[in-house]
Amino acid sequence: MVQFIGVASGKGGVGKTTTAVNIGLALQSLGRKVSLLDADMGLANAQLFLGVTPKLSLADFLFHDAKLEDVQIPCFGGMTLIPGASGDSSLANLPTPSIANLIENLRNQSSDDYMIFDIAAGISHQNTEMLAACDLCLIVMVDEPSSIADAYGVIKLQKERKSNASTFLLPNRSRDSESGRKLYEQMNGLCMSFLGEPIGFMGTLLEDPDIRMSIIKREPLPKAFPGSRSWKNFVEISMAVEKNL
Ligand SMILES: Nc1ncnc2c1ncn2[C@@H]1O[C@H](COP(=O)(O)OP(=O)(O)OP(=O)(O)O)[C@@H](O)[C@H]1O
Ligand SMILES: [Mg+2]
Repeated sequence: MVQFIGVASGKGGVGKTTTAVNIGLALQSLGRKVSLLDADMGLANAQLFLGVTPKLSLADFLFHDAKLEDVQIPCFGGMTLIPGASGDSSLANLPTPSIANLIENLRNQSSDDYMIFDIAAGISHQNTEMLAACDLCLIVMVDEPSSIADAYGVIKLQKERKSNASTFLLPNRSRDSESGRKLYEQMNGLCMSFLGEPIGFMGTLLEDPDIRMSIIKREPLPKAFPGSRSWKNFVEISMAVEKNL
């Protein structure tokens, strides 16, 4: 049965899509069958990171009876992408029952080991519902007050629905692993004090200019820069993800 991995942050622009795409590619490189769902349903852009041009999107699966396998487009290394639809307001504002239906249909139809949800910024009910359906949640955060505040907001909302046992903080753009750990400890302190429960940690993503360069080249990171420190970083984190599932 497919397992869902959610990537969220609250604040925009902190590295959700970067993380979702590369954790997916890394799990696929370890021999798993992986699909990436671009759950940023209003302004989808995971296809840019993967250098593919989709014809169908999640909207065809949801509203036009397309089969999941027809919507999934093959990407680098064999991972598939379920594209979001950029600028489609019917997808951006799904009511709660449609999200529950979507999740159920994905579970029933997917033949993947893992499906990664690249969840949009913000704390809309749509984002909260999708994250709550995940077997493991990664909360991406950078060392800036607004990112810390928004990540805490997401964690707090999740905690209202279920335990934080499967929620992990993922510091991004850190100078070194020590500063990532410090950021984690700061957030874990908040969670312990105000939510009465710790949050998990499985490593830090370091700042790496190759990430930006791979997007500019429109090539996935492991294709453009297979020897980069960020790719090694993603492989390590994906191993930790698998251990915690
Ligand atoms: N570890 C990193 N090192 C260097 N650059 C990074 C890193 N992580 C992300 N970036 C850069 O930050 C920018 C934003 O990343 P990304 O698009 O993944 O964020 P996002 O959270 O998905 O944004 P949005 O909320 O708009 O969907 C990109 O240009 C990406 O290259
Ligand atoms: Mg994004």
